[in-house]
Amino acid sequence: MNISEIYFEGFRNLHDAVIVPDKGINVIFGKNAQGKTNLLEGIWLLSGNKSFRGVRDSNLIKFGCDHARICSKFFSEDREQSSEIIFWGSKKEVKLNGINQKSVTSLIGKLCLVVFSPEHLSLVKDGPKERRKFLDTAICQIKPSYAELISKYNKTLMQRNALLKDIPEHMGLLDTLDVWDYRLSVLGANIVRTRLNYVQHLESCAKKYHLGISAGKEEISLRYLCELPDEQCGSSANVKDAIEEKLKAGRQIDLRDGFTSFGPHKDDLEVTINGVNVRNFGSQGQQRSCVVSMKIAEAELMKKATEQEPIILLDDVLSELDITRQMFLLNEINNRQVFITCCEAASAERLKSGLLMQISNGSCLLRPQDTAFDSF
Ligand SMILES: Nc1ncnc2c1ncn2[C@@H]1O[C@H](COP(=O)(O)OP(=O)(O)OP(=O)(O)O)[C@@H](O)[C@H]1O
Ligand SMILES: [Mg+2]
Repeated sequence: MNISEIYFEGFRNLHDAVIVPDKGINVIFGKNAQGKTNLLEGIWLLSGNKSFRGVRDSNLIKFGCDHARICSKFFSEDREQSSEIIFWGSKKEVKLNGINQKSVTSLIGKLCLVVFSPEHLSLVKDGPKERRKFLDTAICQIKPSYAELISKYNKTLMQRNALLKDIPEHMGLLDTLDVWDYRLSVLGANIVRTRLNYVQHLESCAKKYHLGISAGKEEISLRYLCELPDEQCGSSANVKDAIEEKLKAGRQIDLRDGFTSFGPHKDDLEVTINGVNVRNFGSQGQQRSCVVSMKIAEAELMKKATEQEPIILLDDVLSELDITRQMFLLNEINNRQVFITCCEAASAERLKSGLLMQISNGSCLLRPQDTAFDSF
């Protein structure tokens, strides 16, 4: 899968222009506030997802313009395809292969992208919520029915929590708690088993990339933490029974707090390097490398599931990384299209083959590899 042309019109600070990327590595180099992240954000929107910056659509339109338009030509599902999104305030027009679509979600799965942006460092720096979100989002991309499972679990959890709050005033309701424990444990077991399976595959891919990034010095390990003994995680039935038992055992505490204290909504993903927890002890470079390894592993699993090679967007990934790690990211993620942004000319010049683009005040300039940056 690759993008062969992107056209921006009235998008953020980018000048209206067609960009023709390389099928391999594309490095977008420029000073701060020139439009590098805007460019990646524009590409990302073509995947049919919301901005990774979590902003309103109206923010995407260039100041003073009434609409923004992003068009692409891309190769996917063994053929040339095209897509187009026009943002009019909060409304959107979407086309796929020239045909009007009802919603931007029609583009999901057509152009598969995986993005790393500095905000994703929260995956190792912040609390378990971010890691659960990462797992759930990644699994949803390759198993759409998982989204429904999560939604059912969350609804059931809300109902159990509401009941926990009602019971102290209406003791007759206590018996109905068994029904909710059962429902929650069936759905919860399904989530736990799916996440365990995903983490196992993610870990083996991430290990490969992390060894490469760290020049063989660091072994990353990923462990799903769910407070259930390993021997009980072997089958859905066992996990269901174990969750149900835990819910019953914690009932008094839950009734006191009015909240369900056990279940996949409390689980975590432990990330370690050479056996040491990255969240508590990892250096900035190690934390960044871990997230990147996990993101590239996510792309690899997406490829296995969809048989499409996702395009990888790495925003500001090279800062805080030493030369060996930069060289790996610039030159060793082969056989797929990658877009990497960076501020340092010295970093950009480590690219051995691919396309270098300089972005200045919203204008993209292609820079032949044998030209010095100064003369460009
Ligand atoms: N809707 C918009 N219209 C016009 N300009 C905008 C709009 N949204 C953002 N900008 C401007 O785009 C500029 C570039 O933003 P961007 O985040 O792409 O910078 P960057 O090159 O990634 O910088 P950094 O290296 O600091 O991350 C910012 O100065 C911002 O003010
Ligand atoms: Mg940026």
